[in-house]
Amino acid sequence: MRETGFITAVIRAMENDQLDPYLVDRHAPLLSTPRSKAMAAEALAAGGTVGSVVVRGLFGDIALRDALAEGVTQVVCLAAGSDTRAWRLGLPSATLFFEIDLPGQLEAKETLLAPVRDQLSCRRLSLGQDLRRDTWAQELQAAGYAPGRPAVWIVEGLLPYLRSDQFTRLIRSVRKMSCRGSVLLIDAPHADYYRDPANAKFLAFMKSRGSAFQLGSEDFGGYLRRHGWQAEAYTLAQLRAGTCAWVPPPPARLCPPRDHHWVARARLA
Ligand SMILES: C[S@@+](CC[C@H](N)C(=O)[O-])C[C@H]1O[C@@H](n2cnc3c(N)ncnc32)[C@H](O)[C@@H]1O
Repeated sequence: MRETGFITAVIRAMENDQLDPYLVDRHAPLLSTPRSKAMAAEALAAGGTVGSVVVRGLFGDIALRDALAEGVTQVVCLAAGSDTRAWRLGLPSATLFFEIDLPGQLEAKETLLAPVRDQLSCRRLSLGQDLRRDTWAQELQAAGYAPGRPAVWIVEGLLPYLRSDQFTRLIRSVRKMSCRGSVLLIDAPHADYYRDPANAKFLAFMKSRGSAFQLGSEDFGGYLRRHGWQAEAYTLAQLRAGTCAWVPPPPARLCPPRDHHWVARARLA
């Protein structure tokens, strides 16, 4: 992964350094290189927010642990980037943890996490694949993914970068490759994110960096239900208000009014 792709790791490392962190990610500092810190500082100065990254982190950790405790043994993290769960959650050794990102994106993470290689308790397999093409699904199966067994799918931080048709194709593929008992953990900007004038400067910044945010959803739970999932979706504001019984309400510093964002857990029953 190019260093510039570690901005989310810098955000998680900053949270980890808080006196009372909402998310603990002791491995994120290992991925916070001087260059990625400078990139993150620039994005935050342009109005970027950190809440979505930190909150989906704990939301996903809890949901992933719950699913594994119920017996799921395979995890597929799409657009894994600087995700460190395979290293930091002490996952059962029977867990097969697949990470997919664009070709060449995951190698730098593997190098930077070499000092904590012994903490990788599960079996991790990484694949370089463009998720806009259909080949990733075949490659995943060739690597050992078993569609007949329940899986946890993690899709965090990807949706804003895809076109609507590309994202829907991806979600259909995930559905096709999932059996009963599977869980999908996924986040997305709320459509209000794009309408809020407070985000205009940051959206222009992302566009100027060639990483324009494109997609958002008015009703993310409804979208997932239309694709066959039993979904629970929450905005950051709803989580802050305590609407979700199984996730601690995030502190106000992670839920500024302009951070219109969804996090969701969906299941196939
Ligand atoms: C904002 S980062 C999120 C990374 C990680 N999931 C996290 O939450 O920290 C977006 C990731 O999506 C990956 N990505 C973007 N477009 C992709 C594509 N077409 N296929 C595979 N990965 C892609 C990027 O390389 C990057 O690692």
